[in-house]
Amino acid sequence: MSTHGRAARRRKPPNVLANAPFRRLWTAMSVCSLGDWLNIIALTALAGNLTAGSGYQAQSLAIGGVFIAKMLPAILLGPLAGAVADRFDRRLAMVTADLVRFAVVASIPLVGSYQWVIIATLLVECANLFWVPAKDATVPNLVPKERLEEANQLNLLVTYGTAPVAAALFAVLSAVMGMFTTAVPGFAVRPTDVALGVNALAYLVSASLIFTLRDIPKDHILRVSTPSVLRQVVEGWRFVGGNRVVRGLIIGMLGAFAAGGAVVGVAKAYVTALQGGDAGYGAVFCAVFLGMGIGMFFGPRLLGELSRRRMFGLTIILAGLTLAAIALIHNLALVIVLTVLLGMCAGTTWIIGYTLIGLEVEDGLRGRTFSFLQSLARVVLLLVVALASALGGLVGSHLLVVAGMTYSFDGSNVVLLLGALLAVIVGLLALRHMDDRPGVPIGADLFAALRGEKFVVQDDDQRPGLFVAFEGGEGSGKTTQSRLLAIWLRDQGFDVVQTREPGSTKVGMRLRAILLDAAHQGLSARSEALLYAADRAEHVEKVIRPALQRGSTVVCDRYVDSSLAYQGAGRALDPEDVARVNSWATGGLLPDLTVLIDVPPSVGLRRMASPADRIESEPMEFHERVRREFRALAAAAPDRYLVVDGTLPQNEISRLIQDRVREVLPDPVPQETEAATGTIPAIRD
Ligand code: TYD
Repeated sequence: MSTHGRAARRRKPPNVLANAPFRRLWTAMSVCSLGDWLNIIALTALAGNLTAGSGYQAQSLAIGGVFIAKMLPAILLGPLAGAVADRFDRRLAMVTADLVRFAVVASIPLVGSYQWVIIATLLVECANLFWVPAKDATVPNLVPKERLEEANQLNLLVTYGTAPVAAALFAVLSAVMGMFTTAVPGFAVRPTDVALGVNALAYLVSASLIFTLRDIPKDHILRVSTPSVLRQVVEGWRFVGGNRVVRGLIIGMLGAFAAGGAVVGVAKAYVTALQGGDAGYGAVFCAVFLGMGIGMFFGPRLLGELSRRRMFGLTIILAGLTLAAIALIHNLALVIVLTVLLGMCAGTTWIIGYTLIGLEVEDGLRGRTFSFLQSLARVVLLLVVALASALGGLVGSHLLVVAGMTYSFDGSNVVLLLGALLAVIVGLLALRHMDDRPGVPIGADLFAALRGEKFVVQDDDQRPGLFVAFEGGEGSGKTTQSRLLAIWLRDQGFDVVQTREPGSTKVGMRLRAILLDAAHQGLSARSEALLYAADRAEHVEKVIRPALQRGSTVVCDRYVDSSLAYQGAGRALDPEDVARVNSWATGGLLPDLTVLIDVPPSVGLRRMASPADRIESEPMEFHERVRREFRALAAAAPDRYLVVDGTLPQNEISRLIQDRVREVLPDPVPQETEAATGTIPAIRD
């Protein structure tokens, strides 16, 4: 035992962060990511503040300008910079880029003009173009091959995980500065300046961390060539675009992402219009990413029973509706709450899409598909953010007077509403084209999932046949009665399939032999339940459903209720579990009518002639429990059951059954009297 434990412990590999050089690089990456996010928030806020006096339109365009300046260098110069960066010593390239970023960012508060904000943004991004490929190329030098994936995940975690942290930091900084400004007369430090100061320091810290990282090799043994984002996108589309489902998933995921991007793009202008300051802006920014994180981790667990494809479409639609609410409700606190919800929808959509694509795409293409998705998401996010703010600016600000009430309506509202409309359309299309439960009403599915259950189709309405099941304890006489009913129905001109459980199919016969063999006394309750369910699954698929589809009347001796009574109550298994297994096994098929022939076990067992099988030889309490359960099931749905007293004379019972069955028979009775098919002689009760 202890040897085993030691061996297991020895085999457990250490965390990739235990690798000191990588840990140092990763720390530098985290600090830089935090700085980058602070940079984007502070600069957009600053651009808004610097142009605050020049009207809504100019302000929005100014903010849009910052977003565009952020993305332009990567799109225009990305591949070039990557190639150039490969020629330099990586450590020096990173340290130099860090120092340049530090100096440029630190200069922004000192210069304090909008033009410089834009130029500085361009410069910082150009420096990033050297820093990022050098970093990417360094990771494989520091980390062994089998650890690369883990390292990449950690990398991704800090790239996006630092966004809400930076936004929250910015919001707190702004709030604290605001308090100082009101409390201390003459205190005039702008929160954006403090944020930029922290941002600049982050680059300085990174520079010193990397400078002391001597493990980065000078000669480039491992040359990592990263194709340009644009090329990855075009090539990626070529091999995944052909798969309809994958195409739908990708479009849906991007739609949800774009909804989040639209909020980020107009957030500053919108928050200003709502009289919120920098703290409000930081809060909205934080809300998007916080929501996304929550959605990615908890979203799919929330409605565990809902079909993933349906959930995918629904969360996109919900994202759209939330976006519309954000556009129309002019209250900052509510907007922030709604933004978290929006982020949750987007995060959930993203993670479901990601998982489904993983299942859909074959192994060899998966890696490429995911990197394609990442690149596409990045392009879409940046484009939407930039376009949203620019479009918002172009629309400008208007006052609507509706029924004497003034309603301020500006570009951000229009952009958000357009985004909402787009998301709803994309969501609806996703629902329509990728539905994996056609014919099942989505509302019923959703409500069942909200209760934590899976909605099972109670009945397929299209089936033309009638399904009657007989249930009862041992020796109740149901086999005789089901045979008599079949004869009576045939006399009426119905095509009848008389069948029974267990053992009406080829496989079923073998299962029956196992189940009833008295030699298998020790069979576990669960495996017993599963074997009965397996027999039933086969029976439904091979015999019952096809017969019903043909329009035949099926008379079946025992069905799901027998499992609920014998395995659920008799063997004391969790009734919910037994019900779930059986509803899965039968695809939710239920009888139109169940005839329960009720006799006290003492009477029934006395009627048995041949030696008892495995179940019959159970003690009396077992059979009592079974009987109680049958009666409880019937009492719970009286319109689908007929309970007859099994101690009555045989012809009396038959008459009662015929009277009840007549009520559910289709009208008019079919004319052609065909020979009955599939009749299986019943053996005994
Ligand atoms: P069978 O000889 O067909 O008896 P009966 O005439 O009473 O139907 O054997 C079926 C036995 O299997 C019976 O004792 C009840 C038991 N059984 C279950 O325990 N669970 C089930 O789901 C079914 C269909 C039968």
